[in-house]
Amino acid sequence: MTNHNHAARRLTTIEQHILDEQHSFPAASGTLTGLLYDVALAGKIIAAQTTRAGLVEILGRTGEINVQGERVMKLDVLADEAIYTLTSRTGRLAALVSEEHADILPIPPQFPTGKYVLVYDPLDGSSNIDFNVSIGTIFAIYQRKSAAGPGALEDCLRMGRELVAAGYIVYSASTMLVYSAGHGVHGFTLDPNIGEFLMTHPDICIPEQGGYYSADRGHEDHWSAGARRFTAYLHNSGSVLSQRYVGSLAADFHRTLLSGGVFYYPAVNNDPVRSQGKLRLLYEAAPFAFIAEQAGGYASDGRRAILDIQPTSLHQRTPLFIGNRRLVEKAEEFIQAYG
Ligand code: AHG
Ligand code: MN
Ligand code: MN
Repeated sequence: MTNHNHAARRLTTIEQHILDEQHSFPAASGTLTGLLYDVALAGKIIAAQTTRAGLVEILGRTGEINVQGERVMKLDVLADEAIYTLTSRTGRLAALVSEEHADILPIPPQFPTGKYVLVYDPLDGSSNIDFNVSIGTIFAIYQRKSAAGPGALEDCLRMGRELVAAGYIVYSASTMLVYSAGHGVHGFTLDPNIGEFLMTHPDICIPEQGGYYSADRGHEDHWSAGARRFTAYLHNSGSVLSQRYVGSLAADFHRTLLSGGVFYYPAVNNDPVRSQGKLRLLYEAAPFAFIAEQAGGYASDGRRAILDIQPTSLHQRTPLFIGNRRLVEKAEEFIQAYG
């Protein structure tokens, strides 16, 4: 066999990988496979726009404020539209939830509805866009509860334990898509020459040792005593852990997944926006919690598993501690003891 053939045989595209996973379920119809591929295609489009952002005047703000009271960046809108357009017309979804929209997004009436629900953060880390720092997309998929027709709120307000699949894309020095459909965590890197995501990180497990601790310590004075004592514990742990913080959850989680350690964003007292934490349960914390557990890690709000929290509203926030299971359980000990 020539080297060329050998290389081609080892080359696994994301589509091939999703199909292989699907084949292990005889009842699978291929709908989830198609949906994941729709999201991957949207990711390629967002990656292309992200790399050209400085050239085509799409850096900066739109002048609008979103449902979260945050400034909307032009790339937020482009990413939101790319994902909605590519996933809502293929008959696979009943409804969508986007960070950028207050209510659930229906399927356009001229298209059929399907059996899944997609929740997503189209552009994560938007405050980093203007500085050419890594940003991401986060997505998660539930099976609808209602029987047929347009999806309803109850199809979308779901606890993470019910997730069918979750993933994220990081737009950085290279673009990577990492996902889990409940059979481990797998990473793919976009080859810009051929425009395809290729398997580069099969069966990712969070390392038990080493890594980094990661938090926005600018708010530390306003964290609870438990969160502050946990930080002191990490800081004094014999300098085993170094510190890193990007400010894009997708990038901070990606590093934590590959290197080990812990990322956390606790509640910030006296802050009207962050008093329950900053990150959103449905389309930020829960998808990463699903991936963390699939990789042997754990995610908690400090008192219980993120995956066990039943959301009561689409954009509700939660404190988040995520990464190495031992460290996240240590955080729970401190929160339990000191609040
Ligand atoms: P988004 O850009 O989707 O609104 O999310 C921003 C989030 C998250 O990506 C990041 O971890 C966090 O905000 C950063 O918050 P601070 O600026 O308070 O550190
Ligand atoms: Mn976000
Ligand atoms: Mn966002």
